[in-house]
Amino acid sequence: MCIKAVYPGSFDPITYGHIDIIERGLKLFDKVVVAILINPNKKPLFTVEERIAMIKKSISHLPQEKIEVSSFTGLLVDYVKKANAKAILRGIRAISDFEYEFQMALTNRKLLKEVDTVFMMPDERFSYLSANLVREVASFGGDISYFVPKHVEEKLKEKFKKGEKNV
Ligand code: PNS
Repeated sequence: MCIKAVYPGSFDPITYGHIDIIERGLKLFDKVVVAILINPNKKPLFTVEERIAMIKKSISHLPQEKIEVSSFTGLLVDYVKKANAKAILRGIRAISDFEYEFQMALTNRKLLKEVDTVFMMPDERFSYLSANLVREVASFGGDISYFVPKHVEEKLKEKFKKGEKNV
């Protein structure tokens, strides 16, 4: 039996923290589906296509047959059901993440009782890392090489050179 987990998020953009969670998830699950939420109420810095491309490039060192990169709209549980996944995978960095994650996990379980959320802690080197802060540092020309792969760093630089303001 193939045990599949959905790893949902905005991934705007993918960071070393996300990559660390994908690597950890692959040790527990037969398949990890990295699922980007298309949220019509938010204006992301990167398009879904750009985010998918960056994720694929960032995980090219991992076993491709065990990973799928996709996007979804609407409720996460509907996507999880459709994907026939057994779990939702989420990274938890600090206590400050806990309340939001706790609410989401229990709400999702109320909506789809067969599905549980599995939390994993990224390596402590990435425990303070967030895509929001990476975007902000990049927008002011700061060094983000410690937080994201080189190709993502280049994409961020390109965006901000073009004058994108929505960090
Ligand atoms: O990377 P993020 O932005 O923290 O990810 C949040 C995400 C995508 C996991 C969450 O917003 C989500 O699942 N949205 C889909 C809509 C939904 O199902 N909402 C109810 C969740 S309790």
